Amino acid sequence: MSNRTFTMIKPDAVKAGNIGNILQMINAAGFRIVAMKYLHITKQQAEKFYEVHKERGFFGELTEFMSSGPIVAAILEKDNAVADFRKLIGATNPAQAEEGTIRKKYATSVGENAVHGSDSDENAAIEGSFYFSGLEQF
Ligand code: RTP
Ligand code: MG
Repeated sequence: MSNRTFTMIKPDAVKAGNIGNILQMINAAGFRIVAMKYLHITKQQAEKFYEVHKERGFFGELTEFMSSGPIVAAILEKDNAVADFRKLIGATNPAQAEEGTIRKKYATSVGENAVHGSDSDENAAIEGSFYFSGLEQF
């Protein structure tokens, strides 16, 4: 099992001024920041990142949203990183997210749900290398 995951603080949470609050929760949960950047991706870049979802009904809405404003992208390290981070962020739909999770606190809807978290070790590695070269990982 790998000990890294990949996250993005999504445009809704950035716009709402929650970068600091979310990084604080990530820190408090014991994740170490391996790589981090603040950037605004294009629609084309969002389509490439979310290629696995291209047949889904929400693909247009999702890629439009993810390219609507700046995001924070980061690689995080901790034992059992992928599963523990999914637990920390909570369910995709904030209405179903547990108390104390990032999405319960900061997400507003299933589409605008504050953060991304990789769903497997394999995708964590693919997603991390989409944003960061080896030289940008510490
Ligand atoms: P993420 O990839 O962002 O960590 O979220 P997730 O695994 O919990 O959810 P996933 O099924 O991978 O969906 C990716 C993102 O697409 C948006 N979505 N919108 N309108 C909808 O029904 C819908 N369903 C999903 C969300 O932003 C979700 O996080
Ligand atoms: Mg996902």
